[in-house]
Amino acid sequence: MTHIETFLLERPNLRFVFTGGKGGVGKTVAAAVLAYRFAQEGKKTLIASLNPVHSLSSVFDQDLRGGRIRPVQKAPNLFAVEVEASDVVERYRVNIAQRVREFLKYADIPVDSRPFVDIAVTNPAFEESAMFDKMVDIILKEGQDFERLVFDTAAVANAVRLIGLSKIYGLWLQRMIQSRKEALSLRVQLSFRKERIMEEVKKDPLLADLLGMHERFTAVKKILVDPEQTAFFFVTLPLTLPISVVTRFIKMVRAYDIPVGGVIVNGVIRGEEAERAANDEYLQNQFQEQAGYLKMIQEQLGPLVRTYLPLYHSEIHGLDMVRHACEDMFQPDQEWALALTRV
Ligand SMILES: Nc1ncnc2c1ncn2[C@@H]1O[C@H](COP(=O)(O)OP(=O)(O)O)[C@@H](O)[C@H]1O
Ligand SMILES: [Mg+2]
Repeated sequence: MTHIETFLLERPNLRFVFTGGKGGVGKTVAAAVLAYRFAQEGKKTLIASLNPVHSLSSVFDQDLRGGRIRPVQKAPNLFAVEVEASDVVERYRVNIAQRVREFLKYADIPVDSRPFVDIAVTNPAFEESAMFDKMVDIILKEGQDFERLVFDTAAVANAVRLIGLSKIYGLWLQRMIQSRKEALSLRVQLSFRKERIMEEVKKDPLLADLLGMHERFTAVKKILVDPEQTAFFFVTLPLTLPISVVTRFIKMVRAYDIPVGGVIVNGVIRGEEAERAANDEYLQNQFQEQAGYLKMIQEQLGPLVRTYLPLYHSEIHGLDMVRHACEDMFQPDQEWALALTRV
């Protein structure tokens, strides 16, 4: 196993870090700990939560709500933002409504645009697309000032699919542009130079929009598939379901050439903890079962495991706990956990 510290040292140009995995496994905690660590190393770091329900405020035990980038108190170099889904969705809705209206006008279709807009925004994927769009904004614009960006988003799988789609999308767009060009009258084609033809094509607001989107996608995709700049970390607990989710995610991410940072195994009961609680039947059972799952992780994901985090007595709440978890995550000797995979 390559330890997380070594992995990071080998990637000095890393800028974008994502955490993925099943709900409740510790993605937010892992993201917070990584961001805290980067900031401690002196790197100006932004942690962005793009979840419908946020938990950064709880992890750092301070109010980080409101959708603005804010400094995390008592953690130099660390900034955080909890993106408000409702704001993003509303802005996106207005934007789309305007696009649809413009297009209908341009295409000379005299119908009410509202039903079209309603269909677009009631699509269940709408909120996710809006959040993805916001993430792209942070990567390409708002995040420019930061040396490292850590994204806490439940929608890793969807982000990956959208990135995958951008290839098909690009091909389709090329065809659209071609047919647009061909549709321009011969007069226009003869009287304009090549650059001007493209400008004419762009007068179609829908096509101009698609082109703009495609440019953004291409830019963000280039970043997200670059192993120097980007790493996706997957978090699992020593339990069947989270392990299979991570295994599936890793396959998918690799199919799209997205760089896998590795696996963080969270919530491992320490051997000494189990010894101390000899009469705690529940814990003893958990500890017994954990051994099998740790072995499973070792077999399925072994070389990708970057670090183990112990199960704490309470949830991670407040900077002291984050600091403590950070020390555990970056502890070079992981023998306490590795020993458990061998029993
Ligand atoms: N190692 C751990 N020990 C104790 N509690 C933990 C640990 N890791 C996470 N938690 C707690 O479990 C809950 C879920 O963690 P969270 O990071 O929010 O999961 P996710 O973001 O994957 O849904 C939180 O209350 C968190 O504080
Ligand atoms: Mg979370």
